Amino acid sequence: AASALREERKKPSYQYGDDEYADLDWDNLGFGLTPADYMYVMKCSKDGEFTRGELSPYGNIQLSPSAGVLNYGQAIYEGTKAYRKEDGKLVLFRPDHNAIRMKTGAERMLMPAPSVDQFVDAVKQTAFANKRWVPPAGKGSLYIRPLLMGSGPILGLGPAPEYTFIVYASPVGNYFKEGIAALNLYVEEEYVRAAPGGAGGVKSITNYAPVLKALSRAKSRGFSDVLYLDSAKKKYLEEASSCNVFVVKGRTISTPSTNGTILEGITRKSVMEIASDQGYQVVEKAVHVDEVMDADEVFCTGTAVGVAPVGTITYQDKRAEYKTGDESVCQSLRSVLVGIQTGLIEDNKGWVTGV
Ligand code: COI
Repeated sequence: AASALREERKKPSYQYGDDEYADLDWDNLGFGLTPADYMYVMKCSKDGEFTRGELSPYGNIQLSPSAGVLNYGQAIYEGTKAYRKEDGKLVLFRPDHNAIRMKTGAERMLMPAPSVDQFVDAVKQTAFANKRWVPPAGKGSLYIRPLLMGSGPILGLGPAPEYTFIVYASPVGNYFKEGIAALNLYVEEEYVRAAPGGAGGVKSITNYAPVLKALSRAKSRGFSDVLYLDSAKKKYLEEASSCNVFVVKGRTISTPSTNGTILEGITRKSVMEIASDQGYQVVEKAVHVDEVMDADEVFCTGTAVGVAPVGTITYQDKRAEYKTGDESVCQSLRSVLVGIQTGLIEDNKGWVTGV
């Protein structure tokens, strides 16, 4: 009876999809973790099939100390956002693209992956169950984090014998402490993010801890993030620690081509399409650091980051300043993307899906 009572206490007192708002200061959301009530958990059976998952209250999970993810980093993750429209309805932005990217990443990391339908269903269930944590229209979004990991125990190096897919969520506002103000970036020359043949092109968890040293060094010097260069020549732009990068010169917008070291951002490809629609010439190519320093504008894209203007870039002893503000290319692309994501602009591309 005592354990039944404990179980009962653990259950939240509200219902899935509750219309009440959670008690939060919606005007001051940053990118800190405020766990929403429910997470979705789905286990993979021994024969590589994901069985029906279910929602449970957000909380710690149990892992063997010898879990593949803890010892050998066998895991990938995704990031997607749910937005609340003015009419109160919830929408997701291209979650099927996250599902496909997770499958590609899982192949690279030798893991089974949920099907596209299973992935999208899990994300929708997580968004709906946590409705009260989706910020009011225009105040932010519910960041949804699908995570696929080798949860089974293994000692010798090899794929884990069991996999777990978890989706949790947190309301968020702006990623950078700068808010929507322009970022100051630092070109890193000592450390690289990824090398050809590695896993830089997929959302492996192993791409993130190795950037922390360069990132924290740059932050301690007042920069917002680091720009990485290619591993061979250290002359060509890759991406930042947390987002892709674009360079604007006249009517041409360039971004590093995805050759296996660049994360194939969903915001990246959406912005490329919006820019083409607006008549810009959009080019994927090797972008030389000299071109970056000579650009009119630079901006970053990512699910967490959105479309963020860059005000300055510091490379060696040079510092370039870029155009930002209401008249910028960055702002015109950003306003269309955000408009589609939040339902203010009609979505004639089929990018937005209801929850
Ligand atoms: C995202 O943009 O969703 C990411 O996964 C980046 C992460 C560093 C927050």
